[in-house]
Amino acid sequence: MTQSRVLYRASILHFSQATQNVNEDACYFDDGALVVENSRIVAVGGYAELVIDYATAKQVDYSKRLIIPGLIDSHLHYPQTEMIAKYGEQLLNWLENFTFPTENKFASYAYCQKIAKHFVQQLINNGTTTAFAFSTVHKQASEALFTEASKFNMAIVTGKVCMDRHCPDSLQDTPESAQRESQELIESWHGNGRNLYALTPRFAPTSSAKQLSMLGELAQQYPDVFIQTHLSENHHEIEWVKKLFPAQKSYLDVYDNFNMVRPRALFGHCLHLQQEDWQRLAEAKATAVFCPTSNLFLGSGLFDLQKAQDFGVSVALATDVGAGTSFNMLNTFGEAYKIGQLQGKPLSALEGLYMMTQGPAHNYGLSDQIGNLNPGSYADFVVLNPQFNALSQLRTADSESVEDVLFALSFIGDDRAVEASYIAGEECKQELEII
Ligand code: GUN
Ligand code: ZN
Repeated sequence: MTQSRVLYRASILHFSQATQNVNEDACYFDDGALVVENSRIVAVGGYAELVIDYATAKQVDYSKRLIIPGLIDSHLHYPQTEMIAKYGEQLLNWLENFTFPTENKFASYAYCQKIAKHFVQQLINNGTTTAFAFSTVHKQASEALFTEASKFNMAIVTGKVCMDRHCPDSLQDTPESAQRESQELIESWHGNGRNLYALTPRFAPTSSAKQLSMLGELAQQYPDVFIQTHLSENHHEIEWVKKLFPAQKSYLDVYDNFNMVRPRALFGHCLHLQQEDWQRLAEAKATAVFCPTSNLFLGSGLFDLQKAQDFGVSVALATDVGAGTSFNMLNTFGEAYKIGQLQGKPLSALEGLYMMTQGPAHNYGLSDQIGNLNPGSYADFVVLNPQFNALSQLRTADSESVEDVLFALSFIGDDRAVEASYIAGEECKQELEII
Protein backbone atom coordinates (compact mmCIF):
# COMPACT_ATOMS: atom_id res chain seq x y z
CA MET A 1 0.00 0.00 0.00
CA THR A 2 1.23 3.47 -0.89
CA GLN A 3 0.67 5.44 2.28
CA SER A 4 3.50 7.96 2.06
CA ARG A 5 3.45 11.25 0.21
CA VAL A 6 4.09 10.95 -3.54
CA LEU A 7 4.62 13.74 -6.08
CA TYR A 8 3.75 12.89 -9.70
CA ARG A 9 5.35 15.13 -12.33
CA ALA A 10 3.46 15.47 -15.64
CA SER A 11 1.36 17.85 -17.68
CA ILE A 12 -1.91 18.15 -15.78
CA LEU A 13 -5.40 19.09 -16.98
CA HIS A 14 -8.65 19.28 -15.03
CA PHE A 15 -11.62 21.47 -14.12
CA SER A 16 -11.41 22.58 -10.53
CA GLN A 17 -15.00 23.76 -10.41
CA ALA A 18 -18.31 23.70 -12.22
CA THR A 19 -18.40 25.99 -15.22
CA GLN A 20 -20.49 27.02 -18.21
CA ASN A 21 -17.35 28.02 -20.04
CA VAL A 22 -15.08 25.01 -20.28
CA ASN A 23 -12.73 26.56 -22.79
CA GLU A 24 -11.83 29.36 -20.40
CA ASP A 25 -12.03 27.57 -17.08
CA ALA A 26 -9.83 24.53 -17.63
CA CYS A 27 -6.82 24.37 -15.27
CA TYR A 28 -3.68 23.34 -17.10
CA PHE A 29 -0.09 22.96 -15.91
CA ASP A 30 2.34 22.19 -18.68
CA ASP A 31 5.03 21.14 -16.21
CA GLY A 32 2.79 20.19 -13.32
CA ALA A 33 2.80 18.23 -10.10
CA LEU A 34 0.13 16.23 -8.32
CA VAL A 35 0.82 15.40 -4.68
CA VAL A 36 -0.96 12.42 -3.15
CA GLU A 37 -1.08 11.11 0.38
CA ASN A 38 -3.20 8.36 1.93
CA SER A 39 -5.50 7.93 -1.06
CA ARG A 40 -6.29 11.65 -1.38
CA ILE A 41 -4.87 14.54 -3.36
CA VAL A 42 -3.05 17.06 -1.19
CA ALA A 43 -1.85 19.53 -3.81
CA VAL A 44 -1.91 20.27 -7.53
CA GLY A 45 0.01 22.97 -9.36
CA GLY A 46 3.24 23.85 -11.12
CA TYR A 47 6.17 21.47 -10.56
CA ALA A 48 8.69 24.24 -9.82
CA GLU A 49 6.64 25.40 -6.81
CA LEU A 50 5.38 22.11 -5.46
CA VAL A 51 8.75 20.37 -5.60
CA ILE A 52 9.93 22.91 -3.03
CA ASP A 53 6.80 22.74 -0.85
CA TYR A 54 6.88 18.95 -0.88
CA ALA A 55 10.64 18.40 -1.00
CA THR A 56 10.50 15.17 1.02
CA ALA A 57 7.84 13.50 -1.13
CA LYS A 58 8.78 10.49 -3.21
CA GLN A 59 8.86 11.59 -6.87
CA VAL A 60 7.38 9.72 -9.83
CA ASP A 61 8.34 11.16 -13.18
CA TYR A 62 5.63 11.09 -15.83
CA SER A 63 7.22 13.83 -17.97
CA LYS A 64 5.76 13.99 -21.48
CA ARG A 65 2.61 12.36 -20.12
CA LEU A 66 -0.74 13.98 -19.36
CA ILE A 67 -2.56 13.48 -16.08
CA ILE A 68 -6.34 13.96 -16.11
CA PRO A 69 -8.94 13.04 -13.47
CA GLY A 70 -10.23 9.48 -13.39
CA LEU A 71 -13.09 9.32 -15.90
CA ILE A 72 -16.76 8.89 -15.05
CA ASP A 73 -18.89 6.64 -17.26
CA SER A 74 -22.45 7.60 -16.38
CA HIS A 75 -24.33 4.68 -17.95
CA LEU A 76 -23.39 1.14 -18.93
CA HIS A 77 -24.36 -2.48 -18.30
CA TYR A 78 -21.83 -4.77 -16.71
CA PRO A 79 -23.62 -8.01 -17.67
CA GLN A 80 -23.42 -6.97 -21.31
CA THR A 81 -19.61 -6.97 -21.35
CA GLU A 82 -19.50 -10.31 -23.11
CA MET A 83 -22.13 -9.40 -25.72
CA ILE A 84 -20.65 -6.12 -26.94
CA ALA A 85 -20.97 -5.67 -30.73
CA LYS A 86 -23.82 -8.04 -31.62
CA TYR A 87 -24.91 -7.44 -35.21
CA GLY A 88 -27.82 -5.83 -36.82
CA GLU A 89 -30.75 -5.26 -34.48
CA GLN A 90 -32.52 -2.21 -33.08
CA LEU A 91 -33.35 -1.80 -29.41
CA LEU A 92 -36.35 -4.05 -28.79
CA ASN A 93 -35.13 -7.03 -30.86
CA TRP A 94 -31.63 -6.56 -29.54
CA LEU A 95 -32.96 -6.84 -25.97
CA GLU A 96 -34.97 -9.94 -26.74
CA ASN A 97 -32.44 -11.78 -28.88
CA PHE A 98 -29.16 -10.97 -27.18
CA THR A 99 -29.56 -9.10 -23.92
CA PHE A 100 -32.10 -11.13 -22.00
CA PRO A 101 -30.47 -14.49 -22.79
CA THR A 102 -27.12 -13.11 -21.65
CA GLU A 103 -28.55 -11.64 -18.45
CA ASN A 104 -30.08 -15.03 -17.61
CA LYS A 105 -26.58 -16.35 -17.01
CA PHE A 106 -26.32 -14.20 -13.88
CA ALA A 107 -28.44 -16.70 -12.00
CA SER A 108 -25.02 -18.26 -11.27
CA TYR A 109 -22.97 -16.33 -8.70
CA ALA A 110 -19.74 -17.73 -10.13
CA TYR A 111 -20.71 -16.22 -13.47
CA CYS A 112 -21.46 -12.85 -11.86
CA GLN A 113 -18.00 -12.90 -10.27
CA LYS A 114 -16.29 -13.79 -13.53
CA ILE A 115 -17.93 -11.00 -15.54
CA ALA A 116 -17.62 -8.44 -12.71
CA LYS A 117 -13.89 -9.07 -12.67
CA HIS A 118 -13.56 -8.70 -16.41
CA PHE A 119 -15.76 -5.58 -16.41
CA VAL A 120 -13.83 -3.77 -13.67
CA GLN A 121 -10.56 -4.50 -15.46
CA GLN A 122 -11.95 -3.04 -18.67
CA LEU A 123 -12.99 0.14 -16.88
CA ILE A 124 -9.63 0.58 -15.20
CA ASN A 125 -7.58 -0.16 -18.28
CA ASN A 126 -9.49 2.50 -20.18
CA GLY A 127 -9.09 5.12 -17.46
CA THR A 128 -12.62 4.94 -16.05
CA THR A 129 -12.52 5.09 -12.27
CA THR A 130 -16.23 5.62 -11.54
CA ALA A 131 -19.07 3.94 -13.40
CA PHE A 132 -22.84 3.96 -13.13
CA ALA A 133 -23.50 0.38 -14.06
CA PHE A 134 -26.70 -1.59 -14.45
CA SER A 135 -26.51 -5.09 -13.01
CA THR A 136 -29.21 -7.70 -13.70
CA VAL A 137 -32.44 -8.55 -11.93
CA HIS A 138 -30.49 -10.94 -9.69
CA LYS A 139 -29.61 -9.35 -6.37
CA GLN A 140 -26.33 -11.26 -6.31
CA ALA A 141 -25.21 -9.61 -9.57
CA SER A 142 -25.04 -6.25 -7.75
CA GLU A 143 -23.29 -7.88 -4.81
CA ALA A 144 -20.65 -9.37 -7.10
CA LEU A 145 -19.91 -6.01 -8.71
CA PHE A 146 -19.72 -4.14 -5.39
CA THR A 147 -17.39 -6.83 -4.08
CA GLU A 148 -15.10 -6.68 -7.10
CA ALA A 149 -14.96 -2.86 -7.20
CA SER A 150 -14.20 -2.79 -3.47
CA LYS A 151 -10.97 -4.71 -4.12
CA PHE A 152 -9.73 -1.59 -5.92
CA ASN A 153 -11.39 0.90 -3.55
CA MET A 154 -13.25 2.09 -6.64
CA ALA A 155 -16.32 4.34 -6.47
CA ILE A 156 -18.83 2.17 -8.30
CA VAL A 157 -22.54 2.90 -8.53
CA THR A 158 -24.80 -0.01 -9.33
CA GLY A 159 -28.19 -1.48 -8.54
CA LYS A 160 -30.43 -4.45 -9.03
CA VAL A 161 -32.35 -4.14 -12.30
CA CYS A 162 -36.07 -4.13 -11.55
CA MET A 163 -38.51 -5.59 -14.08
CA ASP A 164 -41.76 -7.39 -13.42
CA ARG A 165 -43.21 -7.69 -16.93
CA HIS A 166 -42.47 -7.88 -20.67
CA CYS A 167 -39.34 -9.92 -20.31
CA PRO A 168 -38.65 -13.68 -19.86
CA ASP A 169 -40.23 -15.18 -16.71
CA SER A 170 -36.79 -16.17 -15.47
CA LEU A 171 -35.81 -12.48 -15.35
CA GLN A 172 -38.93 -11.16 -13.65
CA ASP A 173 -39.17 -9.95 -10.09
CA THR A 174 -42.31 -8.54 -8.44
CA PRO A 175 -43.08 -5.07 -7.08
CA GLU A 176 -42.57 -6.38 -3.56
CA SER A 177 -39.35 -8.34 -4.17
CA ALA A 178 -37.88 -5.45 -6.19
CA GLN A 179 -38.56 -3.04 -3.34
CA ARG A 180 -37.34 -5.42 -0.64
CA GLU A 181 -34.13 -6.45 -2.42
CA SER A 182 -33.31 -2.90 -3.51
CA GLN A 183 -33.70 -1.74 0.07
CA GLU A 184 -31.53 -4.59 1.38
CA LEU A 185 -28.82 -3.65 -1.09
CA ILE A 186 -29.05 0.04 -0.13
CA GLU A 187 -28.69 -0.83 3.53
CA SER A 188 -25.71 -3.11 2.90
CA TRP A 189 -23.83 -1.20 0.24
CA HIS A 190 -24.78 2.47 -0.17
CA GLY A 191 -21.98 4.45 1.45
CA ASN A 192 -20.18 1.27 2.45
CA GLY A 193 -16.58 2.15 1.49
CA ARG A 194 -16.83 3.99 -1.81
CA ASN A 195 -19.83 2.00 -3.04
CA LEU A 196 -23.02 3.84 -3.95
CA TYR A 197 -26.44 2.52 -4.83
CA ALA A 198 -28.72 3.33 -7.77
CA LEU A 199 -32.37 2.31 -7.91
CA THR A 200 -32.55 0.69 -11.34
CA PRO A 201 -35.92 0.19 -13.00
CA ARG A 202 -34.74 -1.01 -16.44
CA PHE A 203 -37.21 1.20 -18.36
CA ALA A 204 -40.93 1.94 -18.24
CA PRO A 205 -42.05 -0.97 -20.48
CA THR A 206 -40.64 -3.63 -18.14
CA SER A 207 -42.04 -2.22 -14.88
CA SER A 208 -45.68 -2.20 -13.85
CA ALA A 209 -47.13 0.98 -12.35
CA LYS A 210 -47.11 -0.79 -9.00
CA GLN A 211 -43.40 -1.56 -9.26
CA LEU A 212 -42.54 2.00 -10.25
CA SER A 213 -44.66 3.26 -7.39
CA MET A 214 -42.88 1.06 -4.85
CA LEU A 215 -39.47 2.09 -6.18
CA GLY A 216 -40.61 5.71 -6.01
CA GLU A 217 -41.28 5.18 -2.32
CA LEU A 218 -37.65 4.14 -1.88
CA ALA A 219 -36.52 7.15 -3.92
CA GLN A 220 -38.28 9.38 -1.42
CA GLN A 221 -37.06 7.46 1.59
CA TYR A 222 -33.43 7.63 0.38
CA PRO A 223 -32.94 11.02 -1.33
CA ASP A 224 -29.17 10.55 -1.64
CA VAL A 225 -29.49 7.23 -3.47
CA PHE A 226 -29.12 7.47 -7.26
CA ILE A 227 -31.78 6.48 -9.80
CA GLN A 228 -30.78 5.18 -13.22
CA THR A 229 -33.01 4.14 -16.10
CA HIS A 230 -33.59 4.56 -19.84
CA LEU A 231 -35.66 7.31 -21.43
CA SER A 232 -36.81 7.96 -24.98
CA GLU A 233 -34.24 5.95 -26.90
CA ASN A 234 -36.12 4.30 -29.78
CA HIS A 235 -39.34 5.18 -31.62
CA HIS A 236 -40.94 1.73 -31.12
CA GLU A 237 -40.12 1.88 -27.43
CA ILE A 238 -41.71 5.34 -27.15
CA GLU A 239 -44.93 4.19 -28.86
CA TRP A 240 -45.06 1.22 -26.51
CA VAL A 241 -44.73 3.46 -23.46
CA LYS A 242 -47.60 5.63 -24.74
CA LYS A 243 -49.83 2.55 -24.93
CA LEU A 244 -48.76 1.24 -21.53
CA PHE A 245 -49.17 4.55 -19.69
CA PRO A 246 -51.91 6.41 -21.60
CA ALA A 247 -52.64 8.78 -18.74
CA GLN A 248 -49.12 10.22 -18.68
CA LYS A 249 -48.24 13.35 -20.67
CA SER A 250 -44.90 11.97 -21.85
CA TYR A 251 -42.35 9.20 -21.29
CA LEU A 252 -40.53 11.32 -18.69
CA ASP A 253 -43.85 11.99 -16.99
CA VAL A 254 -44.18 8.26 -16.28
CA TYR A 255 -41.10 8.43 -14.07
CA ASP A 256 -42.10 11.82 -12.70
CA ASN A 257 -45.48 10.47 -11.63
CA PHE A 258 -43.59 8.02 -9.39
CA ASN A 259 -41.21 10.57 -7.84
CA MET A 260 -38.20 9.51 -9.83
CA VAL A 261 -37.32 12.78 -11.54
CA ARG A 262 -35.03 14.55 -9.13
CA PRO A 263 -31.36 15.32 -8.42
CA ARG A 264 -29.25 12.16 -8.69
CA ALA A 265 -31.61 10.72 -11.32
CA LEU A 266 -29.76 9.71 -14.50
CA PHE A 267 -31.75 9.21 -17.70
CA GLY A 268 -29.97 7.28 -20.42
CA HIS A 269 -30.41 8.48 -24.03
CA CYS A 270 -33.07 11.27 -24.06
CA LEU A 271 -33.11 11.22 -27.87
CA HIS A 272 -36.70 12.10 -28.76
CA LEU A 273 -37.92 14.27 -25.91
CA GLN A 274 -40.66 16.87 -25.97
CA GLN A 275 -39.88 20.48 -25.06
CA GLU A 276 -41.59 20.16 -21.67
CA ASP A 277 -39.40 17.16 -20.84
CA TRP A 278 -36.22 19.18 -21.31
CA GLN A 279 -37.70 21.88 -19.16
CA ARG A 280 -38.60 19.37 -16.46
CA LEU A 281 -35.17 17.70 -16.48
CA ALA A 282 -33.54 21.09 -16.00
CA GLU A 283 -35.88 22.13 -13.21
CA ALA A 284 -35.40 18.80 -11.41
CA LYS A 285 -31.59 18.98 -11.74
CA ALA A 286 -31.67 15.49 -13.20
CA THR A 287 -29.03 14.35 -15.71
CA ALA A 288 -29.45 13.50 -19.38
CA VAL A 289 -26.92 10.84 -20.33
CA PHE A 290 -25.52 11.00 -23.86
CA CYS A 291 -24.44 7.56 -25.16
CA PRO A 292 -23.11 8.24 -28.66
CA THR A 293 -21.66 4.87 -29.66
CA SER A 294 -24.81 3.08 -28.52
CA ASN A 295 -27.13 5.52 -30.27
CA LEU A 296 -25.28 5.00 -33.53
CA PHE A 297 -24.89 1.24 -33.09
CA LEU A 298 -28.61 0.59 -32.45
CA GLY A 299 -29.64 3.25 -34.99
CA SER A 300 -31.58 5.00 -32.25
CA GLY A 301 -31.02 8.65 -33.13
CA LEU A 302 -28.83 11.72 -32.61
CA PHE A 303 -28.67 13.35 -29.18
CA ASP A 304 -29.51 17.05 -29.35
CA LEU A 305 -26.82 18.61 -27.19
CA GLN A 306 -27.76 22.11 -28.28
CA LYS A 307 -31.27 21.63 -26.95
CA ALA A 308 -30.00 20.21 -23.66
CA GLN A 309 -27.75 23.24 -23.28
CA ASP A 310 -30.48 25.70 -24.27
CA PHE A 311 -32.67 24.32 -21.51
CA GLY A 312 -29.80 24.17 -19.01
CA VAL A 313 -29.94 20.38 -18.60
CA SER A 314 -26.80 18.79 -17.23
CA VAL A 315 -25.37 16.26 -19.71
CA ALA A 316 -23.02 13.38 -18.90
CA LEU A 317 -21.24 11.18 -21.42
CA ALA A 318 -21.44 7.40 -21.23
CA THR A 319 -20.53 4.29 -23.15
CA ASP A 320 -23.72 2.23 -22.63
CA VAL A 321 -21.76 -0.99 -23.20
CA GLY A 322 -22.95 -3.50 -24.54
CA ALA A 323 -25.08 -1.48 -27.00
CA GLY A 324 -22.16 0.94 -26.82
CA THR A 325 -19.17 -0.31 -28.74
CA SER A 326 -16.24 0.77 -26.58
CA PHE A 327 -15.31 1.01 -22.91
CA ASN A 328 -13.06 3.93 -23.76
CA MET A 329 -14.52 7.29 -22.72
CA LEU A 330 -12.19 9.30 -24.97
CA ASN A 331 -13.33 7.29 -27.98
CA THR A 332 -16.88 7.84 -26.77
CA PHE A 333 -16.27 11.59 -26.86
CA GLY A 334 -14.89 11.08 -30.40
CA GLU A 335 -18.26 9.68 -31.52
CA ALA A 336 -20.10 12.48 -29.71
CA TYR A 337 -17.99 14.91 -31.70
CA LYS A 338 -19.09 13.26 -34.95
CA ILE A 339 -22.75 13.41 -33.92
CA GLY A 340 -22.21 17.11 -33.24
CA GLN A 341 -20.68 17.51 -36.68
CA LEU A 342 -23.81 16.06 -38.28
CA GLN A 343 -25.80 18.74 -36.46
CA GLY A 344 -23.45 21.63 -37.21
CA LYS A 345 -22.20 21.71 -33.61
CA PRO A 346 -18.84 19.99 -33.19
CA LEU A 347 -17.91 19.48 -29.55
CA SER A 348 -14.52 20.54 -28.28
CA ALA A 349 -12.25 18.07 -26.48
CA LEU A 350 -12.53 20.21 -23.35
CA GLU A 351 -16.34 20.03 -23.46
CA GLY A 352 -15.99 16.27 -23.79
CA LEU A 353 -13.57 16.01 -20.87
CA TYR A 354 -15.89 18.10 -18.72
CA MET A 355 -18.83 15.77 -19.45
CA MET A 356 -16.84 12.80 -18.18
CA THR A 357 -15.26 14.47 -15.12
CA GLN A 358 -16.23 17.59 -13.21
CA GLY A 359 -19.57 18.20 -14.96
CA PRO A 360 -21.30 15.01 -13.80
CA ALA A 361 -19.39 14.93 -10.49
CA HIS A 362 -20.76 18.36 -9.69
CA ASN A 363 -24.29 17.53 -10.77
CA TYR A 364 -24.26 14.33 -8.70
CA GLY A 365 -23.04 16.16 -5.60
CA LEU A 366 -19.79 14.18 -5.65
CA SER A 367 -17.27 16.86 -6.64
CA ASP A 368 -15.66 16.84 -3.21
CA GLN A 369 -14.59 13.25 -4.01
CA ILE A 370 -14.25 12.64 -7.75
CA GLY A 371 -14.14 14.35 -11.14
CA ASN A 372 -11.26 16.75 -10.44
CA LEU A 373 -7.75 16.93 -9.02
CA ASN A 374 -8.55 19.31 -6.17
CA PRO A 375 -6.89 18.85 -2.78
CA GLY A 376 -9.20 16.66 -0.69
CA SER A 377 -10.58 14.67 -3.63
CA TYR A 378 -9.72 10.99 -3.96
CA ALA A 379 -6.53 10.39 -5.92
CA ASP A 380 -8.38 8.88 -8.88
CA PHE A 381 -6.40 9.89 -11.95
CA VAL A 382 -5.25 8.71 -15.34
CA VAL A 383 -1.82 9.01 -16.90
CA LEU A 384 -2.13 9.32 -20.67
CA ASN A 385 0.81 8.75 -22.98
CA PRO A 386 0.11 10.85 -26.08
CA GLN A 387 2.90 9.04 -27.90
CA PHE A 388 2.04 5.44 -27.20
CA ASN A 389 2.62 4.23 -30.77
CA ALA A 390 4.13 5.40 -34.05
CA LEU A 391 1.00 7.12 -35.38
CA SER A 392 0.28 8.97 -32.15
CA GLN A 393 3.95 10.00 -31.99
CA LEU A 394 3.78 11.43 -35.47
CA ARG A 395 0.46 13.15 -34.80
CA THR A 396 1.17 14.70 -31.41
CA ALA A 397 4.93 15.37 -31.47
CA ASP A 398 4.48 19.03 -32.39
CA SER A 399 1.02 19.50 -30.97
CA GLU A 400 0.13 23.14 -30.37
CA SER A 401 -2.09 22.57 -27.34
CA VAL A 402 -3.23 20.08 -24.73
CA GLU A 403 -6.68 20.26 -26.27
CA ASP A 404 -5.24 19.10 -29.58
CA VAL A 405 -3.51 16.17 -27.86
CA LEU A 406 -6.70 15.10 -26.13
CA PHE A 407 -8.66 15.45 -29.33
CA ALA A 408 -6.20 13.31 -31.30
CA LEU A 409 -6.22 10.59 -28.64
CA SER A 410 -10.01 10.50 -28.83
CA PHE A 411 -9.74 9.12 -32.35
CA ILE A 412 -6.40 7.38 -32.67
CA GLY A 413 -6.05 6.35 -29.01
CA ASP A 414 -7.36 3.35 -27.12
CA ASP A 415 -6.47 1.61 -23.86
CA ARG A 416 -2.80 1.57 -24.90
CA ALA A 417 -2.73 5.35 -24.45
CA VAL A 418 -3.62 4.83 -20.79
CA GLU A 419 -0.21 4.33 -19.24
CA ALA A 420 -1.57 4.11 -15.69
CA SER A 421 -4.89 4.32 -13.87
CA TYR A 422 -4.80 5.33 -10.22
CA ILE A 423 -7.68 4.71 -7.86
CA ALA A 424 -7.43 6.19 -4.36
CA GLY A 425 -3.70 6.60 -4.92
CA GLU A 426 -3.01 3.05 -6.09
CA GLU A 427 -1.99 2.10 -9.63
CA CYS A 428 -4.55 -0.44 -10.83
CA LYS A 429 -3.95 -0.99 -14.53
CA GLN A 430 -3.07 -4.58 -15.28
CA GLU A 431 -2.87 -6.83 -18.29
CA LEU A 432 -6.22 -8.42 -18.98
CA GLU A 433 -6.29 -12.05 -18.12
CA ILE A 434 -8.36 -14.33 -20.29
CA ILE A 435 -10.86 -15.46 -17.68
N1 GUN B 1 -33.49 -0.04 -22.73
C1 GUN B 1 -33.85 -0.99 -21.83
N2 GUN B 1 -32.84 -1.82 -21.57
C2 GUN B 1 -31.79 -1.40 -22.29
C3 GUN B 1 -30.46 -1.86 -22.44
O1 GUN B 1 -30.02 -2.84 -21.83
N3 GUN B 1 -29.68 -1.15 -23.31
C4 GUN B 1 -30.13 -0.07 -23.99
N4 GUN B 1 -29.31 0.58 -24.81
N5 GUN B 1 -31.38 0.37 -23.88
C5 GUN B 1 -32.21 -0.29 -23.04
ZN1 ZN C 1 -28.39 1.32 -21.23
